[in-house]
Amino acid sequence: MRRIMVAGNWKMHGTRASVAELTKGLRHLVLPSGVDVAVFPPFLYVNQVIDGLDGTSIAVGAQNSAAEASQGALTGEIAPSQLADAGCTFVLIGHSERRQIMGEQDELLNRKFAAAQACGLTPVLCVGETLVQRDAGKTLEVVGRQLSSIIEALGVGAFVNAVIAYEPVWAIGTGLTASPQQAQEVHAAIRAQLAAENAEVAQGVRLLYGGSVKAANAAELFGMPDIDGGLIGGASLNADEFGAICRAAGN
Ligand code: 13P
Repeated sequence: MRRIMVAGNWKMHGTRASVAELTKGLRHLVLPSGVDVAVFPPFLYVNQVIDGLDGTSIAVGAQNSAAEASQGALTGEIAPSQLADAGCTFVLIGHSERRQIMGEQDELLNRKFAAAQACGLTPVLCVGETLVQRDAGKTLEVVGRQLSSIIEALGVGAFVNAVIAYEPVWAIGTGLTASPQQAQEVHAAIRAQLAAENAEVAQGVRLLYGGSVKAANAAELFGMPDIDGGLIGGASLNADEFGAICRAAGN
């Protein structure tokens, strides 16, 4: 049985004061026992959040990491070994904002994914199509290519210890959510693509949906057979709203 996961991607939000307040709010949440919960603060606040959530069941991840596993001469980057040393357990790989705005390409993301796993982190591979690609009927092709890049480089076994997040770019931060049926269609295709390589890996991997998830629409999305939780942006910046999403996942 796959455990449901709810993850909060804080993106480039927060100050020391607001992070302290959000962390305090998270500490006070009563979370359902069947749900794995994680938050992804900006690098600068990772230590603060790890300290602030000490003793809770909430895991902490980073939003990005270097393509090199070990520390070294790479100005401005953060090695996955350093994230592991800080106490992170997850890292986002290939969020669409990094693919689109920072120009990260599949080949680089393959290396980041492998480096993260080499350090014991669980990568959360983000995939998704733009509105232009969806309107052109290319959704499954685009997502399939993003997934096959990792499979070809690292083998399907790389997904034994990984999470996949389907985040349609047109649904991120727009208030436009994919319908549960639209999301399920893509999640089923992702699982089928993995199953064609290895059925056991496909059955075990958690597929999260991301894109304007809030407490009001979470239960319906999480009720779909191939949706194993969510990657939450804006709504994860409010502890009560995030807690409500976690509870929706627990039902
Ligand atoms: P929103 O929930 O703000 O749409 O963001 C989704 C996202 O990009 C999470 O990684």
